[in-house]
Amino acid sequence: MKTIIEPFRIKSVEPLRHTTPEEREGYLQAAGYNLFLVEARNILIDLLTDSGTSAMSTEQWAAIMRGDESYAGSESFVRLQRVATALTGFRHIIPCHQGRAAERILFSVVCKPGHVIPSNTHFDTTRANIEHTGSRAVDLPLPAAADTQLRLDFKGNMDVAALETLIAAEGAPNIPLVMLTITNNSGGGQPVSMANIEAVKAVASRHGIPFYLDACRFAENAWFIREREPGYASWTPKQIAQKMFSLADGCTFSAKKDAFANIGGLLCTNDDKVALLETNLLILTEGFPTYGGLAGRDLDAIAVGLEEILDPDYLRYRIISTGYLGDHISSQGVPIVEPPGGHAIYIDAARMLPHIPPHQFPGQALAVELYRHAGIRSVEIGSVMFGASARHELLRLAIPRRVYTQSHIDYVVEAILEVNARKHEIRGMEIVEQPPFLRHFSARFRPL
Ligand code: F0G
Repeated sequence: MKTIIEPFRIKSVEPLRHTTPEEREGYLQAAGYNLFLVEARNILIDLLTDSGTSAMSTEQWAAIMRGDESYAGSESFVRLQRVATALTGFRHIIPCHQGRAAERILFSVVCKPGHVIPSNTHFDTTRANIEHTGSRAVDLPLPAAADTQLRLDFKGNMDVAALETLIAAEGAPNIPLVMLTITNNSGGGQPVSMANIEAVKAVASRHGIPFYLDACRFAENAWFIREREPGYASWTPKQIAQKMFSLADGCTFSAKKDAFANIGGLLCTNDDKVALLETNLLILTEGFPTYGGLAGRDLDAIAVGLEEILDPDYLRYRIISTGYLGDHISSQGVPIVEPPGGHAIYIDAARMLPHIPPHQFPGQALAVELYRHAGIRSVEIGSVMFGASARHELLRLAIPRRVYTQSHIDYVVEAILEVNARKHEIRGMEIVEQPPFLRHFSARFRPL
């Protein structure tokens, strides 16, 4: 059989609410043309993020009922610790309320002003938490990744030569850790190869620098390795994930992605001294080390999700279905970041709308038009989000896990192609109001 089906059936459903184009125009005006400010009930298909938006399984809901809400020594934590240790091998598993909480604690403990943290590409919260400590976040993507149209198997890799140069320039003592984001979200959801993980690890250890993974989408990355990297075709996703983690000295993890959880995160390390400092800070701001800002039931949902996510049937469907959206729009002339990523498709809005210059926010203009036309919510990743340091003008369509069916995605394809057919009519936007930082969440716009 050639047809790839969703490897689950639906037991509980939520109705979607249709709105008219006139209603949507009203919602847009009220929201200052910022889709973060549109109420979710007015969205038909929500592709804003794949984070915390997964559908949980029957086993996860059952686990939630088993949740042990003891303040200290919760059984839920013991179950999560057992699963996370078997998967990652890290000595210390510290629960946090989400990925950025793990980032804040890690960087507060290891960074000092003037320090430098290199990564293939930092996610925006990672960068913000590093900069908050007075350190510098440096992205070292492959130079070839700048070309959105180039199809590379592992376009999320770090430029290892650039890492060597950076260490020589800054000095190893000023680099508390080297990080790899798998998959590379800000770089188009592109995977990182095992060879690159090994190479980065080798450089870091040669200089005595700890090596960390930002492991939000570790399972999707493992699947790409299985499919694309010679030597891994007969490995299970779990074996590949275990090898990836075994190369690292620690990780940050948002369980809102590859653990099918609606909330949660982990901070892991093999360093006893660092773990002690982290745990002390955790108690101060997140909670006792056996719950870390989460309810016991959340810990159980993560424990089950961490095992479910590595199911080969699920991962095959996940990566193929994301590619389905990407390939269907790109074959009809919509420029996307090639090849399709794991959790999202990124439209190259600058290339699609060359008549709109970056300072008139082509990605934002496209996001607004897609909502106005079809009730679909997406997110700009370009000059609105990153200001003058934006490398591209992208529109991200992130796919929540196990939530939408193929007919939903067919609707999204049709909507994008209809918008593309009259793209010359789309006008740019200007900002009329913005906060001092992370402006994309609350800025207000006006169409030009
Ligand atoms: N690292 C990466 C690579 C991420 O994609 C995210 C979140 C985080 C860290 C932070 O995790 O949200 O649990 O605090 N990404 C979401 C997104 C928000 O839409 O891409 P968090």
